[in-house]
Amino acid sequence: MAARLPLAKGAGSRYLNAMAVLLAIHVIAAVLWVGGMAFAHLCLRPAAEATLAPPQRLPLMRAVLQRFFGIVWGAITALVLSGYGAILAGGGFSAWGWHVHAMQAVGLVMMALFAHLYFGPWRRMTRAVDDQVWPEAGTAMVAIRRIVTINLVLGLAISALGAAGRWL
Ligand code: HEM
Repeated sequence: MAARLPLAKGAGSRYLNAMAVLLAIHVIAAVLWVGGMAFAHLCLRPAAEATLAPPQRLPLMRAVLQRFFGIVWGAITALVLSGYGAILAGGGFSAWGWHVHAMQAVGLVMMALFAHLYFGPWRRMTRAVDDQVWPEAGTAMVAIRRIVTINLVLGLAISALGAAGRWL
């Protein structure tokens, strides 16, 4: 057992309860964000591409992503608050192993990528769908897909690291 564990410091039950609540919130937010990306990218998008023409598909993707991106903003807020809350409740940054530092760094990259997606290609896509300019909406959708693919891979990697890292 290599990783440093804040829980090994002989903490009382109030500490354990706070940590349990924070990590429960953290993992629920991660499941919603990463699971939503997996469903959208691996199931919904290919099925929509196989069955619908751009004038039907792109408004559908816009309506789906509009709802999902609201969930992602909520998940990001919950991940940041619960993640840093857990770090502080666990005794600060020096009390945690390298896996948490790696998660924090990669997590912040994911959030920056999402903000870029939201204020860049997503804005372009919504405008193009509203104006029914399908080639432009399709190009913006490709850019969204590229960023979602990167974030899906990063999200899976740090979720595995978050859960298993303390045993490395
Ligand atoms: C601001 C960035 C983040 C911080 C400060 C942070 C912090 C933490 C901490 C302190 C833990 C507990 C580790 C342990 O018990 O050994 C943890 C676990 C975890 N994190 Fe993060 N995290 C961040 C971002 C993310 C993101 C973006 C995801 C996924 C999308 C994520 C997914 C997870 C998962 C799945 C666990 C495992 C929970 C468990 O089994 O206890 N984290 N994180």
